[in-house]
Amino acid sequence: MKFAQILVPVAMAVLAVSSTSAMAVDADAAAALFKKNDCSKCHSVDKAKKGPALKKVAANYKGKADAQASIIKAITTGPKVKLDDGSQEDHKVIDTKDQAALKNIADWILAQ
Ligand code: HEC
Repeated sequence: MKFAQILVPVAMAVLAVSSTSAMAVDADAAAALFKKNDCSKCHSVDKAKKGPALKKVAANYKGKADAQASIIKAITTGPKVKLDDGSQEDHKVIDTKDQAALKNIADWILAQ
């Protein structure tokens, strides 16, 4: 096992964490909004439920410039999504239109 194979991803993870924390995500507010909207019924931070783990969502969007906007779109426009059992339904629409709160929860998801 080469040291660099371990060190590079670790260094990248540290960088990612420090750059997102610089954006000052209000994690408590985001988690509370997430819970209040029953998002946790289908998502958890690191385990797939009916929907993907938030860590997986964050990984999918890693390095994408439009990540925040895409997440906000996904949780405000009710797109058709595929559940893990193969059925389809409209994604839940979050109960706020407050842009600051939406950006905060999107950044929080991306920081998982
Ligand atoms: C009934 C189950 C269910 C609930 C409730 C739910 N989701 Fe989802 N969510 C899904 C599924 C399934 C997907 C996967 C979509 C796909 O990959 O096609 C998804 C995808 C997502 C994504 C990724 C979108 C993308 O573009 O990759 C985000 C972010 C998300 N959900 C956030 C939320 C938030 C925030 C809430 C609460 C307001 C929520 N979800 C409530 C099932 C749910």
